[in-house]
Order: sequence, then structure tokens, then C-alpha cells
Amino acid sequence: MKIFLDTANIDKIKEAASWGILDGVTTNPTLISKEGKDFETVVKEILEVVKGPISLEVVSTDWEGMVEEGKKLASYGDNVVIKIPMTVEGLKAIKALSSMGIKVNTTLIFSPAQALLAAKAGSRYLSPFIGRLDDISSYGMRLVEDIMVIVENYGFNCEVIVASVRHPMHVLEAALIGAHIATVPFEVLQKMVKHPLTDIGLERFLKDWEKLKE
Ligand code: E4P
Repeated sequence: MKIFLDTANIDKIKEAASWGILDGVTTNPTLISKEGKDFETVVKEILEVVKGPISLEVVSTDWEGMVEEGKKLASYGDNVVIKIPMTVEGLKAIKALSSMGIKVNTTLIFSPAQALLAAKAGSRYLSPFIGRLDDISSYGMRLVEDIMVIVENYGFNCEVIVASVRHPMHVLEAALIGAHIATVPFEVLQKMVKHPLTDIGLERFLKDWEKLKE
């Protein structure tokens, strides 16, 4: 499974990249706004570190505006992927951008039917938002299961990005389903590394090694 970092914070991106497990980055307007820097500066910093796919989201709501923005964002780098929201206007923009060879990540997917339409329009990535469904007492991971079946049934050239991840179990469940990608906040990545028995075990090994010297 590929692991993307769901952040626009360059320090977190550099740290995750140094672990050797980072395949890409996803951002959104909320994450960019947290950085308190202008958009172009943030994007250029990320592009210097990450060679895998970097999702940048449009803020226009009409398809012509999305396409214009998408073309401009795509010009920042070959690995830029354009994030388009799952609306009717979004579908038109997905079709137009993907026909130009620009990769699209359809965002804000909350139903299998939406995912089917985005895939048909040519979206290269599908982003179901798991945590936000769990937040409203809906079973988010069920959506990932359904989308994986649809993608496999028809051989769509799509990768499913499990998004809105809140904790390590979301990543584990995504991996057990066989989802292609999970996009993960840095704090979740840190939790995935840790296990108390690893820490206790290492401490014991090192203490026993020291005894050899006594
Ligand atoms: C991913 O593409 C989304 O930007 C992100 O996962 C949304 O997560 P949130 O529901 O925690 O805002």
C-alpha cells in the first residue's frame, strides 16, 4: 500500500520522507491555510522534497474555472495531481482535465455512486473520506470496500486513496481491504510506528548487553 502524507507542512513532509516510507502528499485549502504562507511558496517547498504525486486542490466551483486553475496548478510540476470536488461541475472538469492528460484526484467522495461517476469521467485517483463518515455514525470503511469492488469489477484505471484518516486502525483496515493508498496525518504515522512492547523489548536488550561488560 502506498502511504501519502495528508499535510502541507514542510517539516512534517521532510521528516516522513526521511523515514523512507513516503509515496506522495495530499493537501486541501484547509491544510494550506494552516501554514500561514502564500500558496506558491508552500507548493514549491513540497515539490522540492516529494517526487511522488502531490495533490493540489482547486477552489473554483464552475467547471471552466476548475479547468483553468487545474492547468495552472499542473504547470508547477509533472507530479502535481489536481484535486477536484465531486460535483456535477467537478465531473465536467475531471473529464476535461483527464482528456488533456492531467491527472485528477476526485475529493469529497462519500458514496460508491459518486466514486463510480468520478471513475467514469476519468479520475486517476478517488478519495473517499472515511473519518468524516465515521463522525456522523456511518461506517466509513464500508465505502472503501464498495469502491474497491467497483474499480476491480470494471478495471478502471483508478487508485483509491483512503482519506480523512483519524487513527492507525483506519490505515490497517484500508490495507486489509487492499486499498491502493492511505493518506495519513503525520500524527497518525507517528502512532503507527510506536508499540510499548517494542520500547520495553529494546530497553531490555540494551540492559542485558551492558551486563556483558560487567
Ligand atoms: C484528503 O485528501 C483530505 O484532504 C483529508 O484527508 C481530509 O481529512 P479531514 O476529514 O480530517 O479534514
